[in-house]
Parts: sequence; C-alpha cells; structure tokens
Amino acid sequence: MAGFKTVYICSSCEYTSPKWMGKCPKCGSWNTFVEDVQETSASSSAPKRTSVIHSGDSRAQEFSRLESPQYIRSATGLSELDRVLGGGLVSGSAVLISGEPGIGKSTLLLQICDTLGASYKVLYVSGEESSGQLKLRAERLRVSGENLYILTETNIENILSEAKKIKPDVIIADSVQTMYSDAISSSPGSISNVKEVAMAFIGKAKTEGISVILVGHVNKEGGIAGPKVLEHMVDAVLSFEGDKRQSYRIIRANKNRFGSTNEIGVFEMTDIGLRQVENPSEMLLADRPTDVSGNCAVCTMEGTRPIVAEIQALVTPTAFPAPRRTSNGIDYNRTCLILAVLEKRLGLKFSSSDVYLNVIGGLQIDEPASDLGIAMALISSLTDKKIPDTLIAIGEIGLAGECRGVSNIEQRVREAARLGFKEALLPLHNAQSCPDVRGIKIYPVKNIYDILKYLKNDTKKGEF
Ligand code: TYD
Ligand code: MG
Repeated sequence: MAGFKTVYICSSCEYTSPKWMGKCPKCGSWNTFVEDVQETSASSSAPKRTSVIHSGDSRAQEFSRLESPQYIRSATGLSELDRVLGGGLVSGSAVLISGEPGIGKSTLLLQICDTLGASYKVLYVSGEESSGQLKLRAERLRVSGENLYILTETNIENILSEAKKIKPDVIIADSVQTMYSDAISSSPGSISNVKEVAMAFIGKAKTEGISVILVGHVNKEGGIAGPKVLEHMVDAVLSFEGDKRQSYRIIRANKNRFGSTNEIGVFEMTDIGLRQVENPSEMLLADRPTDVSGNCAVCTMEGTRPIVAEIQALVTPTAFPAPRRTSNGIDYNRTCLILAVLEKRLGLKFSSSDVYLNVIGGLQIDEPASDLGIAMALISSLTDKKIPDTLIAIGEIGLAGECRGVSNIEQRVREAARLGFKEALLPLHNAQSCPDVRGIKIYPVKNIYDILKYLKNDTKKGEF
C-alpha cells in the first residue's frame, strides 16, 4: 500500500537521509539538507527511466558518418543576451536563468517576448504574477504582445496540456520553484517537484524542438534553489547578477552547450525596463574620482570584449591584532597573494594595515591581468602617491614578483586608447609585441620593482 515518509535531501548532491544533518556525508556541503516527502509504495521506489535525448536508436554510430546538426538560433532583440547565449536562442534548447528575487528576470524575459513574438509563438507561464500584473508590466515595457500567450498556472500537467493546444515555439516558465506535478506529493519548490517540473519542460524541448526558458530563484548562499541536477539537465545556465541598490545588471553564462561561457551582457534597469549597455567601460568609468591616491584603471577581458574598470584600494593603519582584508569584486585569495608578494619582494608593510579593495560599478574581476593594477592601487594608497588618471596597468604578477604577459594585449590597449588613456604599463613581453596604438604611450614592466620606480617619479606631472 502506498504511504508517505519524510526524508531529507541534500540540495547539492541529492544524498537522501531519514534524518536532518548539518553536513552532507557524500559531498561535504553544510546546511544543504531540505525536507521532502516521498511515496513509500513499491512502484514508486523503482527509479524512473526517462531520457531527455530521445535519439531513438540504441546502436553505436560511426563518428565520421554522423551529420552535424544545424542549430537554428533566434535573436531575442537584446544583443547583450544573444551574445551570452552564444549567438541567440537555440530552438529545442533548455535554458535556466537564475538570480535573486527582484533582480529583473521577469522583466528581461517579458522584454524578449516582443522580438521573439515577431517570428514565433511564445507561451509565458507565470506562477508568480497574475495576468493583470503581467499586462500592466508589458505595457510599461512597451511590449506589443503579438503572438504572446500568458498562462497563470502552476500545475505542470495543466501547463503541458495547454501547450499542446497552443503549440508554442518558445515556452517561458517563471519560475520552476512555483510549479508542481500531481505525481509528486511534496510541496512546490521541493527538490523532487523542481526536478520533475524541469524534466517535463526539458523533455518537451527535446522532443518537439521548442525552446524552453526556465526561471530559477537562488537561495541565500547564491546557489540555485533545488537540486544541482537541474544544472546538469539544461543546456545553458545563465545567472543574472547585480547589486539591487545600483541599477546595473550583469548576465553571465555558467554553462553553455551552444557557446562560450566567457561572455557577459550588461544592462541598466530603468523605469521602462532593462536597457542594454553596449559600452560597459564608459559606464564603469563614469564619475571616477580623480586626484586621489589608491585608484588604478585595469583592463579585463570578458569573453571577446575588453572592459576597462577602476580598482580602488584603501590602506589604513589597523586597530586590530589581525588586520582586516576586505575585497569586493576581486577574489579574496588573489588579494592576499598580491599583498604577500608586495610585502616580501618590495618590503612594504601591509601587515600592520587594514586593506579594503573595491571594483567600481559592481563588476566581478577574476582575470589575473588585473594583478598589476591591483598592486599599483595598493602601493598608491599605502604611500599616498597618486597614479595619473590617464594611466592604465595591465599584467599578471607571479610569486617571484615578475610581471607576466597576458593575452589579447592589442585589443586591451586599443580599448584604453579609445577611452582616452595616455599611458599603459604592460608586461615587458607584451610591450615588445604590442603594435603602436595612437595616443597611448607604452611603458614596459619587467617586475614589480619597476612599478615602484614609476610611482616614485610620479611627481613630474604626466611624465614618469
Ligand atoms: P522583476 O523582473 O520582477 O524581478 P524578478 O523576476 O527577478 O524577481 O523586477 C524586479 C525589479 O525591477 C522591481 O523591483 C522593479 C524593478 N523594475 C524597474 O525598475 N523598472 C521596470 O521597468 C520594471 C518592469 C521593473
Ligand atoms: Mg519574477
């Protein structure tokens, strides 16, 4: 006879336990166990064997004879999003968009309905907002709503039967956490429900060639609420990030089976929806403080695009036995590494100071090419010597204090020149190979002793 039992499932690796545990014995994550209800009948304990690929042929095929599939990519009307998707929305693909509540996921998806609606039938399934709310929002966003169907429903069986009648080309499910299946007895948002709902949508995408966009909320720790398996099942996982206090939003691909995961798309939230920012460097450099110590411009590559950002450092005498290290937008371990190199190789005393590092504009920089700029900003703040506003520093720093070459140097220098920078500190190797770029003077840096030399002579205006 069928019955129900309460189990606890790790939201990271799906390890199941009859009791709640603080740490998962399988994957070692902390606080990931969530309560779930499972059926205890013999039939339900057998694993469900569902395939989302449906090749229909279980014989192995010779690789050289396989035909390469032709992916149909559709422009969404937001080129920033298209680039992150790898050149547009691929038909028959399942994309998961995750982000904190209120970041702008529903706004973004309603906006793309306008362009997609020009050539495709779009079904927008909302489990969070009423059709009236969506109508009002669409009017504000100036979405015409041509070919757009709104369904406010949370039961997956009802959604699929409605989809059968409408026959859409694109389905948007906002959000998977609000939807549930009759086959699962636990509440909506539980791991088994999220998985079942996602499987149903993905199955539909793969069998009927429909593009499915799933919206997923992130939990407090920043992970997508629900099992990690959701990320394995979909073709692309995009995360929508940004500081809610600021108007800028960044979308990046954490996984993409149809393109690179390096690209980012930048948007600004306005009163009429999201506006694309095609020139993020200009946005990041707007209102940059001038004539203060501790600031240095760097150039980081986000996929194929060079982005110039400003690093700010503040080094102050500490009042604590263990000095504070805070880094916002820069990897904490990288910050510690650069501080250790500066301390050991240049003899600069950071150990008696608190260090605060920040990237202006909320950008997350994880490329080592910004090491030199970070080091410059730190030294500038410690010694209170200013770095000229027209200077940009590009290069990676090694543990011996050497300055290592970075890729795409010409592109980076050109972007800096376009934005009005006049001097560029480059690794020696790059400085030798970089062609002349009009308006910018290149200074080679072999190791970090060189930057000290440049900063010392900083007193002569504009010249080193
Ligand atoms: P929303 O898309 O509902 O976020 P999510 O679906 O990720 O939860 O939008 C969130 C915020 O965006 C909301 O607080 C209001 C703001 N917003 C604007 O500033 N301008 C607009 O045109 C719209 C539609 C929303
Ligand atoms: Mg929403």
